[in-house]
Amino acid sequence: MRRQVLLFISVIFLSSVLGQVSYTINEEMSRGSLVGNVAQDLGLDVERLKSRNARVYSGDSREYIELSKDRGALLIKERIDREALCGQSTPCALHFQIILENPIEFYGVIVEIIDVNDNPPAFEKSEIQFKISESAVSGSKFDLERAVDLDVGINGLQNYLLKPTDNFALKLHNQADGSKNVEMILQKPLDREKNEHISLVLTAVDGGEPQLSGTMLILITVLDANDNAPVFTQPVYKATVAENSPEGTVVTTVSASDADHGSHGRITYSIRNTLDDVRHMFEVNEESGEVRLIGNIDYEKARNYQINLRASDDGGLTDSCKVIVDIMDVNDNKPLIKVMSKSNVVSEDVKTNTVVTIINIQDPDADENGKVQCVINENIPFLIKSTASNFYSLLTDSDLDRERASEYNISVTCSDEGVPSLSSSVTLTLQISDVNDNAPVFERSSYEAYIVENNTPGLSIFTVKARDADWNQNARVSYILEDSSVNGVPVSSYVSVSADSGVIHAVRSFDYEQIKDFQFRVKAQDGGSPPLSSNVTVKILIQDQNDNAPQVLYPVQTGGSLVAEMVPRSADVGYLVTKVVAVDVDSGQNAWLSYKLQKATDRALFEVGLQNGEIRTIRQVTDKDAVKQRLTVVVEDNGQPSRSATVNVNVAVADSFPEALSELTDFTHDKEYNDNLTFYLVLALAVVSFLFITCLVVIISVKIYRWRQSRILYHSSLPVIPYYPPRYSDTLGTGTLPHVYNYEVCRTTDSRKSDCKFGRAGSQNVLIMDPSSTGTMQRIQSEKSILDEPDSPLEVRPYCYPFLLKKQPI
Ligand SMILES: *[C@@H]1O[C@H](CO)[C@@H](O)[C@H](O)[C@H]1NC(C)=O
Ligand SMILES: *[C@@H]1O[C@H](CO)[C@@H](O)[C@H](O)[C@H]1NC(C)=O
Repeated sequence: MRRQVLLFISVIFLSSVLGQVSYTINEEMSRGSLVGNVAQDLGLDVERLKSRNARVYSGDSREYIELSKDRGALLIKERIDREALCGQSTPCALHFQIILENPIEFYGVIVEIIDVNDNPPAFEKSEIQFKISESAVSGSKFDLERAVDLDVGINGLQNYLLKPTDNFALKLHNQADGSKNVEMILQKPLDREKNEHISLVLTAVDGGEPQLSGTMLILITVLDANDNAPVFTQPVYKATVAENSPEGTVVTTVSASDADHGSHGRITYSIRNTLDDVRHMFEVNEESGEVRLIGNIDYEKARNYQINLRASDDGGLTDSCKVIVDIMDVNDNKPLIKVMSKSNVVSEDVKTNTVVTIINIQDPDADENGKVQCVINENIPFLIKSTASNFYSLLTDSDLDRERASEYNISVTCSDEGVPSLSSSVTLTLQISDVNDNAPVFERSSYEAYIVENNTPGLSIFTVKARDADWNQNARVSYILEDSSVNGVPVSSYVSVSADSGVIHAVRSFDYEQIKDFQFRVKAQDGGSPPLSSNVTVKILIQDQNDNAPQVLYPVQTGGSLVAEMVPRSADVGYLVTKVVAVDVDSGQNAWLSYKLQKATDRALFEVGLQNGEIRTIRQVTDKDAVKQRLTVVVEDNGQPSRSATVNVNVAVADSFPEALSELTDFTHDKEYNDNLTFYLVLALAVVSFLFITCLVVIISVKIYRWRQSRILYHSSLPVIPYYPPRYSDTLGTGTLPHVYNYEVCRTTDSRKSDCKFGRAGSQNVLIMDPSSTGTMQRIQSEKSILDEPDSPLEVRPYCYPFLLKKQPI
């Protein structure tokens, strides 16, 4: 086949060139391959060739072809590469000569070399890389490298193919030099999110038979463009958080995704609310989407929050969502107690069920946490009642009494029903105002007071006191003396009552001897309107003072007259001479009298009964005893200090009146003693001294006398019968006078020494000496007493003759 083609070509050359041959061969023929039978073609025989030393001459050029002298043919000496020999130029031919010697002859040989498709198209690099943003627009051009095919003509590069053709198409531009510029045109936008890496194969093909091709890998990295917005996983998130949750509590976590890559896919979260205070309450972690608390969540301020969240990528694309946060109530609010009424004073006479005050309760918590019950402390006369929702009334439950409790501390405690329950309390101090419902009450149901007589007028006796349980003016007690009369005299002239203090003053000086007691009523009245009052009986007892000295009633101490008692010389020991009778108008101890012998002519002869004032002999009267005996008796009361009176008793010791009479005249001298005090004192001294000596003598003599008498009695053995006056009934030996000794007190009109006493002693021997008629004795006896005495002393007293002597003026 190949040979036929060569032959055909040789013939063409032979026919046109004489002395010159042309051959056409394919390139790349193996060594020794026949190029052409040159001997034949030139008309030379083989021997000639040999003999003439034919050889090929190619000058400086490399010898690709050699001459086979034996065969007279040209053979391939070296492999011929057309591309190396001629490059892209056509046609490609080897020019050389065949030289013959002897003679030298030249024959030109041209060997045209024909291209064989022995080179595939080839790219310089096996792969190229592109980085194309996914945002590249359709129509964008990308220059590609051309391939090279060393072959020429139809064996040269013919076309390019690109696969796959999803996004790109090829565009070839024919250049002026006949080559082609290859461009890749973006036909369909790229999407990094679908396909980040694209690899294409560019194939270059030639037109040879068989066709050869070369390929190049086109690696395209799709660069991300921010073509995807972030997307939240949910449009609305719901969360619940308890109020008072601490700061930092995670409420929820939102999440958005972005299909983009890198910074285009980096999402940051933010809160978009502007008007409300959501931004002060919540924050969102920019990166993690954690929504946290940053403020104090208070259910009572807001029950839910709506957070508008935005997710944005770095490219500025965004999405938004809502987070609805419901706040759960926590029982964190105590009930708030408000007392509505300001007045905290209530009158003690209000009726039961009177509303004292109204209380408003507020608890902002929800449901059970906000349901409130109120109670008040026990044991007070109040109750609390729910009137309207959130309102309570405080009512009186029973009657009030300011005097029992003037103020109440009412503690109102309100607690809600939360768990745990919260409570608060308030203490109302309620004052009970006074109503004049209590009369003054005296401390005692009656009073008794004592005042010593002879008080100074105006002296305060004592104090009555009334108390009033009411308050202030209603308790201001005034004391009023109620009108009455005492012995016909208005009581106000006895006492007065100080209205303010209740002190009772004596208005006058009291005399116990005139009034011993009296009573009156004092009224205590309060200052209420109308006033209330009460009264009390006050009894004043006047106490005796020893302001009266004893008064001697008997013997009568008339200024001038002299009364003397007669004692018969025969009188026995214990003979009752007389009885000093005295009274004291005071009472009690002040009137308890005692009698003492102060002075006596002969102390040994008489004694005075301490209690009864009886004067008795204490020894036998003897002849030696003087007729005139004078005794001074002191009557003393028992008061403090005591008062006393003295009385002089004259005793005549005589058997007969004449004897007594003669002696008694001397008694009148006593009158003159009294006239001169000095003289009297001197005399008294003398008498005392005398009496002392006399007493001494008398006592000694009495002793001796008794001693003698006893000796006589002892020797005589005669019975001694003491003689008693018939009416003398001192049988018991007590020395008291019989009851018939009564005294009557009367007032004499002319008596300067106040009262005197007329004895009714039926058996009294009395000598009365009238001082106005010296030396005269009188027998004084009331007619009444004589008449009253059935047994007259005239008849029954033989030893003593009642007589009345009136001494005639001499
Ligand atoms: C009421 O409370 C006040 C103040 O705490 C107290 O001084 C007063 O004695 C109380 N009154 C009564 C009746 O408890
Ligand atoms: C004094 O009080 C008594 C009751 O204690 C009453 O009966 C009497 O009327 C009162 N007297 C006067 C004058 O008020």
